[in-house]
Amino acid sequence: MGNDQLSRRNFMKTSASVIALTAMSSKNIFAAGDEKIKIGLIGAGGRGTGAAINCLEASPDVEIVAMCDLFKDRVDGSLNRLKKDFADRVKVTPETTFTGFDGAQKVLDSGIDMVILACPPGFRPRHLEMAVNAGKHVFMEKPVATDPAGIRKVIAASKLAETKKLSIVAGTQRRHQKHYIDIIRQVEAGVIGEPVAGQCFWNGGELWHRGKEASWTEMEYQCRNWLYFTWLSGDHIVEQHVHNIDVCNWAMGGHPVKAYGMGGRQKRTDPKWGNIWDHFAIEFEYENGAKVMSMCRQSSGCSNRVSEYIVGTKGRIATNGSNGQILIDGKKTNFDGSPNPYVQEHKDLVASIKGGQYLNEGVRVAESTMTAILGRMSAYTGREIKFDWALNASKLELVPQNPVLGDLEERPVAIPGITKMI
Ligand SMILES: NC(=O)c1ccc[n+]([C@@H]2O[C@H](COP(=O)([O-])OP(=O)(O)OC[C@H]3O[C@@H](n4cnc5c(N)ncnc54)[C@H](O)[C@@H]3O)[C@@H](O)[C@H]2O)c1
Repeated sequence: MGNDQLSRRNFMKTSASVIALTAMSSKNIFAAGDEKIKIGLIGAGGRGTGAAINCLEASPDVEIVAMCDLFKDRVDGSLNRLKKDFADRVKVTPETTFTGFDGAQKVLDSGIDMVILACPPGFRPRHLEMAVNAGKHVFMEKPVATDPAGIRKVIAASKLAETKKLSIVAGTQRRHQKHYIDIIRQVEAGVIGEPVAGQCFWNGGELWHRGKEASWTEMEYQCRNWLYFTWLSGDHIVEQHVHNIDVCNWAMGGHPVKAYGMGGRQKRTDPKWGNIWDHFAIEFEYENGAKVMSMCRQSSGCSNRVSEYIVGTKGRIATNGSNGQILIDGKKTNFDGSPNPYVQEHKDLVASIKGGQYLNEGVRVAESTMTAILGRMSAYTGREIKFDWALNASKLELVPQNPVLGDLEERPVAIPGITKMI
């Protein structure tokens, strides 16, 4: 392995320390804790409500003051849930509760300091751009886009946030989980030598489907069942497996240079499952030649596996959501007992806002989301695809510019060798 091949890892480590060292400390109205951080929620579904709860649990210095969802039943449900445990810090009023596609801007205009973005990922790039333009700190759920055009928007907005001294924390919670942090620090310190191979998995069961009502337009139907439409979810390799792909990128010190993948739709063939697939297998190749095999499946009744493995020239690591190990010469060191990462990510975000410390995960999560999109693009088309081409030259843009709750085309299921690479 040549010096040039090692340089990217060193660069990543150096640039991470530079970011830490150049962390800005500015005088800040939230520092003393007298002034509450006012939070708005965009996308009041399961995780949006959960993230708002986690944020309230993370700090006594935050309150929820505005929220929106496309649909009234979802905002009502979320508000009731939040008020159940946090009545004194949920200050949302009928005037600060919004529905429809324009609700997001109205939340941003409600005098908030920070916003939680928890809509389906197809909408994330636009919402992040709006939030940064409005000067708000951001917690955004993963993944952060479903196509290269969206990724480019997220990267631009994240760089703008840097200049505006705004924090952006992403919902790739493993990055805030102690055992992952401790193990990857050891990898970065060279304890397992140079990483040369890896595997990652999200093989799990089937998820919810919310049915179809006669009164719904096609847009409402797709937005309510967003998991099953690639423009909204990215497919499950992006929506779910991005967590494990992100860990591999973290351990490898950057994103892969190319992907070669396959997959299909063997069980969920009924049109109710939209146009996503049910299984993928992708080989990601990194700058130093290391290869990571990624596998993901959504199919109930099978053996599940959600984990990551990295092999280095001197040892290896194994990680999952609960614990991990470093193995060197047959000696195993165990790491476990991380605090709840869903709360920890908000503790870290609130601390960065209160301390005036710059914390911006935008570009990093955009790269990991792009990696997952790259895998999907390779599998859908049947072609090997380079990361740089996909990020910078692909014209794939799946999300409508001005969505309305009306008609919407139903896009076909991708077929390798026929689906075009654009
Ligand atoms: N970090 C994690 O472990 C984790 C876990 C679950 C979900 N997530 C992520 O959280 C996000 C939300 O997932 P969820 O499970 O809460 O889904 P959900 O369907 O329960 O909630 C999404 C909500 O967004 C609303 N919505 C859709 N488009 C909107 C728009 N343009 N404006 C306003 N509201 C809109 C929907 O009506 C819905 O209520 C996804 O990106 C998902 O991948 C992350």
